This record gives sequence, C-alpha cells and structure tokens, in this order.
Amino acid sequence: MQDLDIDQITDAVIAQMATTPDPRLREIMEAAVRHLHAFAREVRLTPDEWLKGIAFLTAVGQMCSPVRQEFILLSDVLGLSRLVNVMHDAEGREAAGTETSLLGPFFREAAPRIALGEALPKRTDAPEILLYGQVRDAQGRPVPHATIDVWQTDADGLYDLQAHDPSVMDNRGQLQCDEEGRYYFRTVKPLGYSIPMDGPVGELVRQQKRHGFRPAHIHLLITAPGYRDLVTALYFADDPHVDSDTVFGVSRSLIVQERTDLPDSPIPGMPAVRYDFTLSRQGAGGSGRVGADPTRLASATS
Ligand code: BEZ
Ligand code: FE
Repeated sequence: MQDLDIDQITDAVIAQMATTPDPRLREIMEAAVRHLHAFAREVRLTPDEWLKGIAFLTAVGQMCSPVRQEFILLSDVLGLSRLVNVMHDAEGREAAGTETSLLGPFFREAAPRIALGEALPKRTDAPEILLYGQVRDAQGRPVPHATIDVWQTDADGLYDLQAHDPSVMDNRGQLQCDEEGRYYFRTVKPLGYSIPMDGPVGELVRQQKRHGFRPAHIHLLITAPGYRDLVTALYFADDPHVDSDTVFGVSRSLIVQERTDLPDSPIPGMPAVRYDFTLSRQGAGGSGRVGADPTRLASATS
C-alpha cells in the first residue's frame, strides 16, 4: 500500500494503465494523464475549480445534439482542431499541395449540382463575384473532372442551416471541373460571422473578451480518384478579423481578394478571384496516423 503524494500519483496511474493491450490507446492515455496532472500541479487546481471544470464539460456535452457539436467547437476555439489539421497536413500533404482548413459545422452532403459558370446562391440582390481557376497535381498537371463542393454564408453572414429548416439548401453546390481541371462559378461575397455563442463555449469566449468572429470565407472540399481529399477555405483579405480568427483556420496562402483586372477571367469585368488548387496524391507522405478524415465528422457536426 502506497501513500500517494503530489509526485507519486502520476506514476501510480500510469503503472495501473500499463495493462492496456492496444499500444496506441496506452500511449495516448499515458500522455493524457501526464499532461493533465502537470496542468493541475502547475495551476494548483483547487477542488472548487475542479468542480467548475466538471460542470463546464457537462454543459458542453448537454449542448450537443444531432445538429450541434459543442465539443468540436470547444476544440476549435482552443486551437486543437487547427493543431491536429496541421499535423495531418505535415504527414500526408505533398510540399506543393494546397493547405487545408477547418471543415466547420456547416458542411452538408448532397448539395445541388451546379454547372460551370452557374451561380451558387439561388437568388440574391447582392453583387456577384466570380471564383475560377484550375485543379492540378503536385507536378502542375491538370486533374481532370475533379469534384468541388462549395459552401458559404450569404451576403448577410448566414448559412442555410441557420434557417433551422433542413429543406432549405442555398449558397452551396457541387461542381465538376472540365477535362483541364478548370472550374468557375458565380457567387456573392460572403460576410464574416460569429461562431455559435449561445452555449458554454460562447460563454467562455465572452469571458475571455474574444470577439467570437470568423473572417469571411468560402469553404471547399475537392476530391478526385487517387488524390487525398482537400478540405480547405479561401479567406478574404479585407475582412477585419482575417488576422484574429476565433478558430484559427486562416493560413496566409489561403487569403484572397477579388479584382476586376484579371486578364484570363472567364467573365471579364466581374470582380473575380483566381485560385488554383493543388491536390496531393493519396499516400504520398507520412503514415496518415494523425487526424481523422474530416468529412467523416460532417454528420456529427452539421
Ligand atoms: C465555420 O467555418 O463554419 C466554423 C468553423 C468552426 C467553428 C464554427 C464555424
Ligand atoms: Fe464557415
């Protein structure tokens, strides 16, 4: 029988868990216990604070539903989702590959098909912009007929899902590139928006005096046989929150700005963004051990 003091408790827990047959589960749980104990020791966590933490996590769980994933939102605002994404990229993305970004909670399967050149919004009074470019492989060769899923807010900063009516599908679509990997579609410029602030994660963000906003962006999921799925987003440079995204999704290489002087624009004169995407070959790098297939989370987060 041991009397476990502040220093001995960590080793005692790890020793008891050493029977775990699954080596990855053993590795993860050992590290989790080591870091959790180190955190409690560092901040000298009190019983009251421990209880507050338990109540917070309970509230996060209770906020979850088939249409709301508050734990993923917590992971997002703590930067954990970004960290896992970046590690996943480092293992599987070819050096030239387009950087990934967060899938977010508003992806939906089975978006309506749109033809090249068509508009994403069903109807709008807002001025249109054009998004166009080419999907290529890491050697710069076109990837013919890649499929692009696009989803975004409307010009008021709202996703269709926020209408709370599943029959409403708007500002999203699926298009197929031509044989040269080229794509183009019309849309409206999205507005930045606040992450859901009506739950415990929003309350935490408020207590931290953070603004809770994501900069204006367009989400894309690009797939083609033999290539790694690319989940990414393009962020607009003129959004005031482009340098302070609450969920840390922005990368410099994904920042864009519409222009009217692009010489190869398929609709000359219309404000346009040209962006060429580079897909990585499946299995091109690393073990792929870190990170989940983000599209699998879609049904849990939509
Ligand atoms: C989004 O991009 O839609 C999003 C991502 C993370 C949290 C909330 C929203
Ligand atoms: Fe989004």
